[in-house]
Amino acid sequence: MPTENALLLIAKSDKILVAGAGGFIGGHFIKNLIQQGFYNIRAVDIKPRDTWFQKFDTVDNSIGDLRLLDTCHTVMNNVDWVFNFACDMGGMGFIENHKVECMLSVLANTHLLVAAHNAGVKRFLYSSSACVYRADKQTSTDVTALTESDAYPAMPEDGYGWEKLFSERMSLHFAEDNGLLTRIPRLHNVYGPMGTFDGGREKAPAAICRKVAMAKLSGLSDIEIWGDGHQTRSFQYIDDCVLGVQKIFSSDITEPINLGSSEMVSINQLVDMVEAIAGITLNRAYKLDAPKGVRGRNSDNTMIQAELGWQPSTKLQDGLSTTYAWIYDELSNGRNQSLFTSNYTLPSL
Ligand code: GDD
Repeated sequence: MPTENALLLIAKSDKILVAGAGGFIGGHFIKNLIQQGFYNIRAVDIKPRDTWFQKFDTVDNSIGDLRLLDTCHTVMNNVDWVFNFACDMGGMGFIENHKVECMLSVLANTHLLVAAHNAGVKRFLYSSSACVYRADKQTSTDVTALTESDAYPAMPEDGYGWEKLFSERMSLHFAEDNGLLTRIPRLHNVYGPMGTFDGGREKAPAAICRKVAMAKLSGLSDIEIWGDGHQTRSFQYIDDCVLGVQKIFSSDITEPINLGSSEMVSINQLVDMVEAIAGITLNRAYKLDAPKGVRGRNSDNTMIQAELGWQPSTKLQDGLSTTYAWIYDELSNGRNQSLFTSNYTLPSL
């Protein structure tokens, strides 16, 4: 976890709202706030508390449907600063097949902005995504890393990406028109322990760790990989994400900015790494009709390096070691994710 104090503008006693507190990023984020000595934290999620990835009894925990404006007004009471990680999302297996659910996150994003403006919040962070980038900039495996201007003219990932791009713009205009100060990191694929690794919402790093760990535990020697394995991505370790969000939040950067690793690998290379960590070699079966997303994606970090003198730096090899160890441990202790967000469906509106 980052030890650097990147939130100097927040007093330890200020009220901080973390939306999406039960999710993977929200859980790590609150843990880090507590480690830094912030003690006036309100943690909100729609999911029942026993399904949250991390739970902290010392914070003000509440369950609420942020798609509803009334809930947003209620949780915004006396809040100084907002971090919005709330989102109905997942890896390609989820977002390609649940476009309505993904797009309905616009309700939470809209109502949180309205309530924050109404409550006179000092600053609001909206967590956007690399899925806002133009599809035609991501058609080859040796893709040119995406720079912030590559989001326009708009041609984002259908469903999820369109919602993220719209909510980015709404956050920008709440700043321009209403004076609510907003910050907008575009998160590239985030991975790490204490996140989804099963059930349909898992992303490639956790999915591959799970499949390799299952093979190791069961003695089976096959692994299924979605696509042909040549598709490329960069994967960002959770600690870098938490620190980067805090740095962007505290900065003067008002436009959307990349927050991602620039260490691009193919999915086959990702599997190589996890196999090496586990000490096994598996027979690969390529499922060509599985959800694949874009052909290649990487983060151009010129802007974040220039603005902050920093960029995510955790080596994929190191982050995967920690992630694999956690997933292996969960599986070998018989803990599955049926209780967690993996299988969670939001209640109907
Ligand atoms: N999920 C998953 N599971 N992906 C696999 C698997 C598997 O078992 N095997 C291979 N892949 C391949 C997918 O087909 C895809 O080509 C690639 O790994 C990456 O898949 P994901 O990690 O699921 O998603 P993504 O990188 O395309 O998009 C994710 O990151 C975006 C930000 O960069 C998603 O989580 C998006 O929601 C997010 O915005």
